[in-house]
Amino acid sequence: MDAKKIVIVASECQPFFASGGLADVIGSLPTRVAKLMNANGENNQVSVILPLYSKFTNPKYRNKLVYIGQTTVNLSWRKQYCGIFKYVEKGITYYFIDNEYYFKKSNYYGYFDDGERFAFFSKAAIETMIYLDIIPDIIHCHDWQAGLVPVYLRTLYYNDERFKDVRRIFTVHNIEYQGIYSYDEDIIQDVFGIPAQDGYILEYRGHLNIMKGAMESSNFVSTVSPTYAEEIQYAYFAKGLEFEVERIKQEGKLRGILNGIDKTFYNPAKDDALFVKYDKKTPELKAENKVHLQEMLGLTVNKDIPLIGMVTRLVSHKGMDLVKAILSEVLKEKVQVVILGTGDSSYEWFLRDMERAYQGKLSVIIAFNQDLSRKIYASSDLFLMPSLSEPCGLAQMIACRYGALPIVRKTGGLADSIKDFSLAKGNGYVFDNINADELLAKVKQALADYEDKALWAKHVKAAMACDFGWTASAKKYVEMYEELLNK
Ligand code: GLC
Repeated sequence: MDAKKIVIVASECQPFFASGGLADVIGSLPTRVAKLMNANGENNQVSVILPLYSKFTNPKYRNKLVYIGQTTVNLSWRKQYCGIFKYVEKGITYYFIDNEYYFKKSNYYGYFDDGERFAFFSKAAIETMIYLDIIPDIIHCHDWQAGLVPVYLRTLYYNDERFKDVRRIFTVHNIEYQGIYSYDEDIIQDVFGIPAQDGYILEYRGHLNIMKGAMESSNFVSTVSPTYAEEIQYAYFAKGLEFEVERIKQEGKLRGILNGIDKTFYNPAKDDALFVKYDKKTPELKAENKVHLQEMLGLTVNKDIPLIGMVTRLVSHKGMDLVKAILSEVLKEKVQVVILGTGDSSYEWFLRDMERAYQGKLSVIIAFNQDLSRKIYASSDLFLMPSLSEPCGLAQMIACRYGALPIVRKTGGLADSIKDFSLAKGNGYVFDNINADELLAKVKQALADYEDKALWAKHVKAAMACDFGWTASAKKYVEMYEELLNK
């Protein structure tokens, strides 16, 4: 095959800026895919287009981004500045779209004009490709923030010869966030710059739904685990999009590929965030990390108390109501719990109150803090992830790598990566139903196992031996690209 060009469009990417798992994936997938595609010296090019969140850009990289030009993006009647910055690492070229009006904000998302912000981003991604003359063979867009790219290609750029053969892939990292607005022809034309007669592409159940438009305008749609691709055919998981999912499934467009984790970045043997580094051969050093963390967080210092860690967004689908239901029961046991995350204020307040009531046993840190999260993985004996739904989940994989045994619900990527210890090749504790008693029973079973030192060591060894690296997943992405290119 001739050299191919792949352009990946997403709204977050490690190590530049991150608010969730999407950034981890965009931070590792391109490099891994490029490595595979160029294994025999081919000259395939993989580029990534991102918004430039100037306030969050990792200071290590801020001055390394090179300004390469600017263009004007027309969004309906607006004519917006679009600066383009560039950074190259490990063979991947990253392009950053600069527009401070849209992206110099205190948060990533959550503004009244998010629709317009990411419409601009999607249009700007296309204009950047034109400006730089990097018309790809495949454009791979992630989540609703990049979801208008395939829609624009199908509508505004329909007659543009340059994009005629561009194949489009859309990856759903979480169907919970669809980019829904009220359906109104003025909004469609005025905010999104899409002609009214094309509005039906975005229309879904009486609303304007960007994820639906993206699914319908792409050749393939993938989810971040095989089980999640099955689950979103049901209303409970699809959050309203089940009819659209059904349709793309019928058309043979739906795929599910499990994410990997960056084993170089998440490596307890080399992780500078840890108090004490360790590896598969020295898991006992986890206890030293635990003691340091206990001191740091004001927990009772005792290396023999099992520590349960949780690093999560404090939102309902992460199973926070299950946690709420069992927390005081769990804290009656010989155990300590550390929870790190931000999210809905009702959970934040509940946890703060609980922390006050269980001083020395429970520590709650309301923050997004990557450094601390790795200290928690390293110090924890168990890692709690009772998600109601989980498209993939990276934390359970990181937990295994750091020797914290995951307690998970059997859903999505959790079901695809963690097997209960009662089964062959078990690497964690798995419960089936959204049921607080089932979860509590698993936690108690895990705490009982902890007291059996030989059994525990065996379990930790099994978890740490799991390979959740990108190799297998990147291969599946490349296969998907090849399948599409050969269509
Ligand atoms: C989203 C999902 C999570 C997944 C991540 C990366 O954050 O909620 O399950 O691991 O994206 O794909």
